[in-house]
Amino acid sequence: MAEPTILTAQHGDGDRRTAVITLNRPKQLNALNDELMDALGEALLRFDADPAVGCIVITGSEKAFAAGADIGVLAQHDFISAYTSDLITRNWEHIRRVRKPVIAAVSGFALGGGCELAMMCDVVLATDTAKFGQPEIKLGIIPGAGGTQRLPRAVGKAKAMDLVLSGRLMDAAEAERSGLVSRIVPADRLMAEALALGEVICALGEASVLAAKESVNRSYEAPLSDGILTERRLFHAMFGTPDQKEGMEAFLAKRKPVFKR
Ligand code: CAA
Repeated sequence: MAEPTILTAQHGDGDRRTAVITLNRPKQLNALNDELMDALGEALLRFDADPAVGCIVITGSEKAFAAGADIGVLAQHDFISAYTSDLITRNWEHIRRVRKPVIAAVSGFALGGGCELAMMCDVVLATDTAKFGQPEIKLGIIPGAGGTQRLPRAVGKAKAMDLVLSGRLMDAAEAERSGLVSRIVPADRLMAEALALGEVICALGEASVLAAKESVNRSYEAPLSDGILTERRLFHAMFGTPDQKEGMEAFLAKRKPVFKR
């Protein structure tokens, strides 16, 4: 039987757990094909809908988070087939529909579609072996899953141009300095750190976590005035939740808050 293209597991023993999705084409450095992206999308939407899951981690192997779209597949296409089949992007939009926090735990190569996948996540943890880049230009194409749009937003236009136009890779230290990576963690602690962050998020109030993600994401897409308005509406809405009562009462009583779903 063929190996599954992703593996899934759940961690934690609280009310809500962290779901882990492991990209599982290690021999191909987790090159992303339709089968893998369909499975990833299905798992993401399933975990997003599962009330027992509070946070999702996407990870790869030690050598590669993902080395990009599967070049063997791309090589078979011409313009008409790429355009009519909506090549690459057809099944990439699921992750944008996920309302729960998604953490990318990156070791090794995150290139092309792999870098784009990491950038679609909310938090990017990387080991010091991680390497990021958009090397599509060396294949005679350009990034096709958001790289030319999300990279400048993450690292600024000058560095994005440098990376996209040359296809050079940047190491984890440069990626963290320039804002693509949230935090660098020791290689042998990657999953422990990702799960520890997942545990923190799972113990927080669910509504405030979803609202925080929604509000930060608005800053990405909307003019400042719209983003500020979204934040203000969500901020005020939080005062209708039991989490706000519990969080503030606990602070004033100098005890730990217990957030209930
Ligand atoms: N697609 C298909 N197969 C890939 C792959 C990819 N993106 N990346 C690696 N592989 C395969 C290799 O062909 C090789 O297979 P075989 O063992 O059968 O020969 C195997 O994975 C191991 O790779 P290497 O032997 O090349 O490993 P390395 O350590 O020497 O090099 C690497 C690692 C620098 C990441 C190199 O594999 C590489 O440059 N990969 C391609 C990176 C790339 O160009 N990504 C962009 C793809 S296009 C894209 O992603 C479009 C988009 O915007 C969505």
